[in-house]
Amino acid sequence: MKTKDGIREIRLEELNADEFIRQKVGEISSAVGSDLAVNALSGGVDSSTVTLLAHRALGDRLKTYFIENGLMREGEPQRVVSFFRKLGIKVEMVDARKQFFSALKGLTDPEEKREAITQTFYREVFGKLVKESGVKFLLHGTIYTDVEETLAGVKRQHNILEQLGIDTQKEYGYTVLEPLVELRKPAVRKVAKVLGLPQEIYERKPFPGPALAARVIGKVTPERIETVRKATKIVEEELAATNAFQYLAILHSDMVTGMRKGRRAYGSQIELRCWDSKDAVTGKPTRLPHDIMEKLADRITSEMPQVVSVTYNITRKPPSTIEAV
Ligand code: XMP
Repeated sequence: MKTKDGIREIRLEELNADEFIRQKVGEISSAVGSDLAVNALSGGVDSSTVTLLAHRALGDRLKTYFIENGLMREGEPQRVVSFFRKLGIKVEMVDARKQFFSALKGLTDPEEKREAITQTFYREVFGKLVKESGVKFLLHGTIYTDVEETLAGVKRQHNILEQLGIDTQKEYGYTVLEPLVELRKPAVRKVAKVLGLPQEIYERKPFPGPALAARVIGKVTPERIETVRKATKIVEEELAATNAFQYLAILHSDMVTGMRKGRRAYGSQIELRCWDSKDAVTGKPTRLPHDIMEKLADRITSEMPQVVSVTYNITRKPPSTIEAV
C-alpha cells in the first residue's frame, strides 16, 4: 500500500472491485500482522468502505470508533453507530466535543480551522486512544482526490499527513494505512457496493471531513454550529428530490439588517449552495426552480428567528469551491 510518493490512480474503468478487495484485505492483514488496528468511522462512503475492508482483514482485531466532534449533522452520530452495529460491526462512540471546540476557539482563518481539526483528531483524540490501547495502526479513508487537492494547494484536506511529509509514527506514535488512496470517489462507491454496503451508503452525498465547520465562516462555536445544523436539515429536506451532486447551507459571519415584528433586527445570513458536478473538481450551481428557493428562504427564516437573509450562490467552481471553508 503506497502512502507517500508516487501514488498511482486506479481509474474506475480499470478497477476490478473483487480483485481490489482481495488485494487490500491481504495488504491490511500483512501490514498489521498479529497487532491491533483502529479506525475512525464517520458514516461517509470512504470511512464505511475502510471499515468493511479492515473488518474483513482483521475481524475483532479492528477497533472502530465514531468520533463525536460536535460538528456532525442532526442525529448523525447515533444513526451511523446503530447502522454499523446492525451490520455486526461494533462501533464505539467517543465524545470529543470539548476537545474540538476548544481547539477551534477564536480561530477564523479557514486553513487554521482545518489544521486545528486535523491536529485534534490525530494528536489529541487518536493519539490518546492509541496510546491507551497499545495499537500501532490507524486505518483511514483518504482518497486520491484528497491528496491531489492538498498537494495542489487548493485546500488542506483534513486527512492528509504523510503526503505532506508528516511522519505519523514520530508525530503521533502510530502508522496510518490508507487502502483507498489510489481511488477517486466513483471507484470507492463501486468497491463499497461490491463489499455489500447498502445503497444509502454507497450513493451517499459527499460530506466534508471537517463536517459543519467547513460551512461556518468565522468563529466556530457550539451555537454557530447549531445554527448551520438547523439550516442544513432544512436544505437537505427540501432538496432531497433534486438530482444535485451536493447541497448545503453556509453561515456567514457578517450580520445584516432585517425586520422582525415591524422593527429593525440585525440577524444572521445563510447562503445556500447546490451543485451540479461529476467529481467535485469542477461544479456549476444547479438551476433550481425559483419556488423551491423561495420555500427554502421562507422555512429558514421562519424556523430560525436569528436568520434574516438567505442567498443563493451562483458562482461556478472554480473560482468558488464547494464548501466555504
Ligand atoms: P471543495 O470545497 O474543496 O470540496 O470544493 C470538494 C469536495 O470535497 C468535500 N470536502 C472534503 N472532503 N475532507 C473530505 O473528506 C475535507 O477536508 C473536505 N473538504 C471538502 C466537499 O464536500 C466536496 O464534495
